[in-house]
Amino acid sequence: KKNIQIAIDGPAGAGKSTIAKIVAEALGFTYIDTGAMYRAVTYKALQQNIHLDDEEKLADMLAASTIDLKPSPQGQLVFLDGDNVSAEIRSNEVTSSVSQVAAHAKVREQLVEEQQKLAANGGVVMDGRDIATHVLKNAELKIFMSATVEERARRRLIDNQKRGIDASLEKLREEIALRDKKDSEREASPLVQAEDAIFLDTTALSIDEAAQAILKLAQERM
Ligand code: C5P
Repeated sequence: KKNIQIAIDGPAGAGKSTIAKIVAEALGFTYIDTGAMYRAVTYKALQQNIHLDDEEKLADMLAASTIDLKPSPQGQLVFLDGDNVSAEIRSNEVTSSVSQVAAHAKVREQLVEEQQKLAANGGVVMDGRDIATHVLKNAELKIFMSATVEERARRRLIDNQKRGIDASLEKLREEIALRDKKDSEREASPLVQAEDAIFLDTTALSIDEAAQAILKLAQERM
């Protein structure tokens, strides 16, 4: 069995993290949530009142920060400068600001380097927006996961309700559509399906069905 790299990209709310976690667990691989890294940078910038358009300041801030992803029985935990910020990085404020921060090339360069180090030995399932196109160009399996915006908003609503964050379906739909637009239209590593990625529409699939589909493709490549 080979320790392959699995890249999963797609728009917000397509089910990437939920499904990536299941796939990683089933294969005994490490799950790496790159969105959490962009969220941690955004959280710190908001805390420090750094202007989200100030690429130099954000890059300097990030260079002086440590972001660690640690697996735990409750899922992946995110530590920023040693503090557990796993809940804070999911706030509405961070969610609505993260695409602005993630658009800066100097922020991306640093995080991509970190992500490549984490995946260097294989045995990873990494999810994000530019994993197949930039971070792990040689990944053995590349998946582009999507679902209709209505279905993604519906899933986010259920997710938020579980976390105790309130929002209306309509607001979530708008937020998701706007974030997708920003992520897809930015100049630095935009969200786009890699030529060699397999498209997986999860609109009508259960979590388990989507995970099984990816596991089957993974096993063929191991
Ligand atoms: O995956 P998640 O929704 O948590 O990602 C939050 C944001 O981080 C995305 O909307 C995007 O702006 C940014 N991101 C990115 N590249 C990645 C992962 C996330 O630009 N590889």
